[in-house]
Amino acid sequence: MLKPEIEDGPASHARLSGADPAFRADVIAGLTRRPRAIPARWFYDRRGSELFEAITDLPEYYPTRTETAILREASADIARLAGAGRAVIEFGSGSSTKTPILLGAVRPCAYVPIDISGEFLRESSRVLAAAHPGLEVIPLEADFMRPITLPPRIAEREKLGFFPGSTIGNMTPAMAIDLLRAMRASLGEGAMLVIGMDRIKDVAVLEHAYDDAAGVTAAFNLNLLERINRELDGTIPVDAFGHKAMWNDDRARVEMHLKAKRAVDFAIDGYRFAMAAGETIHTENSHKYGARDARILLRGGGWTPVADWTDPEGLFAIYLAEAQAVRAAP
Ligand code: AVJ
Repeated sequence: MLKPEIEDGPASHARLSGADPAFRADVIAGLTRRPRAIPARWFYDRRGSELFEAITDLPEYYPTRTETAILREASADIARLAGAGRAVIEFGSGSSTKTPILLGAVRPCAYVPIDISGEFLRESSRVLAAAHPGLEVIPLEADFMRPITLPPRIAEREKLGFFPGSTIGNMTPAMAIDLLRAMRASLGEGAMLVIGMDRIKDVAVLEHAYDDAAGVTAAFNLNLLERINRELDGTIPVDAFGHKAMWNDDRARVEMHLKAKRAVDFAIDGYRFAMAAGETIHTENSHKYGARDARILLRGGGWTPVADWTDPEGLFAIYLAEAQAVRAAP
């Protein structure tokens, strides 16, 4: 292995005002560890969110349009199976076009979007409330990886969780199960969950979905470095990095990396880093689940699969699951 000339570590006293301390901590720790990795949640600053929106329109990126089409087909069934009058709790800000499809079919008593980003949450909640007069919209600013205390009004209702977008795919199976269990704890026994999961398919289709011809996904990945430079006083030479997306068959996931095209050294908030040519920063995992894999994952997280829907090509799947009482015997 090539030894970098400069050892990673603090050079001067670090001081930064205005930056998100959690972002700073994740970036410094993530670039210090081997393999280097930064959590995918930091992609989504304003520019990153715009680039993700652009990704969802790409010809190669099938998940968004496929899931939307499945939901259109399935929403009446979901409403029938879940029953009327449930409160819909969305894990994520609900800025997508999928939310109105579900709300239109389920006709919930209330809608509770949960997101860590308060700004985005309030914005999309206003838009949704305006489009659904009479619907009670109660945005909740929280980290949904932890069990959430719902407002008493909502807690006493029957609940339907909504977790679209295959966002669960960004987590390792162990983290995904922790999250599903946290959702079960938040929503309680008897709750139901509508969740989208992307399927395992032809490797070329998967890799092109994360490495499009127009270079939008590359820009999305590289924006993380721009964001570090902008917000954390970074000196990363962004043009020295390339976008890489590859299928990891052992882990059943598409991985995105930022690969140093040459030896680079840079500073972030006073910390110095050196990367050898060819070294990568792991920025995202997108796990894919076969039909049985998905059902095992749900059961592992305390949710019993009730029904599922897919597109004619079997690219993507939506599951309806229920938090049933735990039984000691099989
Ligand atoms: C929104 C997290 C599901 O993993 O497919 C798209 C994000 N990354 N292209 C995904 C993403 C690169 C997307 N998720």
